[in-house]
Formats: sequence, C-alpha cells, structure tokens
Amino acid sequence: MSENPATPAEPAPAATGRPAGTAPDQQIGGVPGPPEAAAETAPQTTSPDGQRLGGREPMFPHGTGPAADPAGSHHERRIRSFQPRRSRVSPSQADAIRRLWPKWGLDIDGLSQIDLDEMFDGLPVILEIGFGMGEATAQMAAADPDTGILACDVHTPGQGNLLALAERNGLSNVRVANGDAIILLREMLAPASLAGLRVYFPDPWPKKRHHKRRLIQPEFLSLVTTRLAPGATVHCATDWEPYAEQMLEVLSAEPTLENLHDGYAPRPDFRPLTKFEGQGLDKGHVVHDLLFRRRTD
Ligand SMILES: C[S@@+](CC[C@H](N)C(=O)[O-])C[C@H]1O[C@@H](n2cnc3c(N)ncnc32)[C@H](O)[C@@H]1O
Repeated sequence: MSENPATPAEPAPAATGRPAGTAPDQQIGGVPGPPEAAAETAPQTTSPDGQRLGGREPMFPHGTGPAADPAGSHHERRIRSFQPRRSRVSPSQADAIRRLWPKWGLDIDGLSQIDLDEMFDGLPVILEIGFGMGEATAQMAAADPDTGILACDVHTPGQGNLLALAERNGLSNVRVANGDAIILLREMLAPASLAGLRVYFPDPWPKKRHHKRRLIQPEFLSLVTTRLAPGATVHCATDWEPYAEQMLEVLSAEPTLENLHDGYAPRPDFRPLTKFEGQGLDKGHVVHDLLFRRRTD
C-alpha cells in the first residue's frame, strides 16, 4: 500500500488486507485522523426480522447477504464519512437481500479489483456514493438503462430497498455495494474505469470538529479523479450551505476537473428529489448542485 493510500496511481491488484494493529492509516481521503476512529466500524445490529443482535454478529450468515464489516476493521483505521446506524431491516428488505445479494450485491472487502465490464456487460458505469434508501438511484437507473449504476452505501435497509426496487422495476443496470466507498475506489476500481461519480446529499457533518469526516475533500478528489475516465462527470448536491461552499472550492481547485457551469449548476432535471433533499427543503434549506467534468487533456 502506498504512503498516501488515497492517491495511488494504481489500485492493488490482489489482497491488500492488513492485520489489525499494524501500521494503520487514520485517514479520510488522506488526512491523518485521531486514534479513536479505530472503534468506528459499521456493525449490523438488527436481525432480518428486526431483532437486535450483538455488535459484530453477522446479520446474513453464510454468504446470504452483505458481510458484517466488509470495509474491515482488519483492513485499516480511518476517519469515516459515515456513521454506523442501528436501523431496523424490514422483513421485505431482508428478503430482497437474501434473494438478490448473491446476484447483484458486492462486498467492499478491498481484496481484489472488480471487472466493471463484466459486471455491467460493457455499459459505462457511474458510481453513486451514499444512495440512502435508493429511490432516486432506482429512478435514475430506470431513466437511463444504457448506464450501469454501482450504488454504494453502508446502510443495510437501503440496500434491501434498492435491491427490491431494482427487481420490481426490472433494473438490470444496478449493483449494490456494501461498505466504504473509499476502499472501493482505492482498492477495487481500476484507473479511468468510471464514467461518472454521483454524491447526493452526503452527510454534512455540521460541527467543526467533525468537518474532517466530510467526504468531499481534496485528497478524496485526488483519488476519485484517478478512477474517472477522461470526460467523466462528477455530480454533487447538498442542502448544507457551508458544505456547498466547501464542495465548490475543493472541486474547483482539483486541476483535473473543469466546472461545467459558472459556480453552482442549475438543478438538472435528470436528478430526482432524494429523501434527504426533501428533508432539507422542509427545513427551508437551499439546494446546490455542482457538475464538473474530468478533463480530457
Ligand atoms: C445523508 S445520506 C443521503 C442519502 C441519499 N443520497 C439521499 O439524498 O437521500 C448519506 C448517505 O451516505 C452514506 N455514506 C457516507 N459515507 C459513505 C462512504 N464512505 N461509503 C459509502 N456510503 C457512505 C451514508 O451511509 C448515508 O446513507
């Protein structure tokens, strides 16, 4: 693994797991973080029928669903941009996961590179980080069947919901990845393999001491842009004004990206209202979209 694991030229082609306690990097997108981040994993804490389980007990044993801790506390210690959520998985979500995970699910274990061409039958692929409950993801996938959507989140109910939506709507162009998108980008995606990135309403981490957890940071973008094909788009949206300002600053400063608009983008009609966006609008927040493109030169 490289010195700055957020910005390697190439992802590791094979196993990159690191025994717990050895040379941890405490980073989000490359920024050193505090040791207490070590305790933060994403435990699955409810059984498929809603019963609470112990912290690391697998919810879906024997490969019947997402692994309990796919990004792996064994893998590294980092500041994470997500918060472990103790959400109830409904019986229908659990059922969708059990039936569909083997076909459409991906555990982000950081152990091997993914062949996106094989996974999506040669379609151009957009990575969506943080799809939440997946309604907007499913709508966008339905509207654009010639694009593959690799939808990544750690939220098990949302994974079940999106799998169910994909099945119900016959969306063969959606795959659901469980785990930390940074591990996915860094260890499992080939350089220049993505046609785009979507990050809609990422956790705003409003407290100053939590700003280091925000996903959109210079080091994160340095990593992302190595995985974007020339001409690939980066589309972000947020209802949190200070985060919008940070996004605009950070995206504009990334030399391999160009802004498709002068400042914020007008809301594109292809982006449906998301759940978190609706909540922000209810609170009177203003939504900003940002649309950038990976330079071709
Ligand atoms: C505030 S929610 C927004 C969900 C959805 N996009 C919407 O607008 O309704 C942010 C989501 O990003 C996910 N997330 C945050 N950091 C992530 C990461 N590094 N990898 C995968 N998912 C992440 C969280 O689990 C959460 O579901």
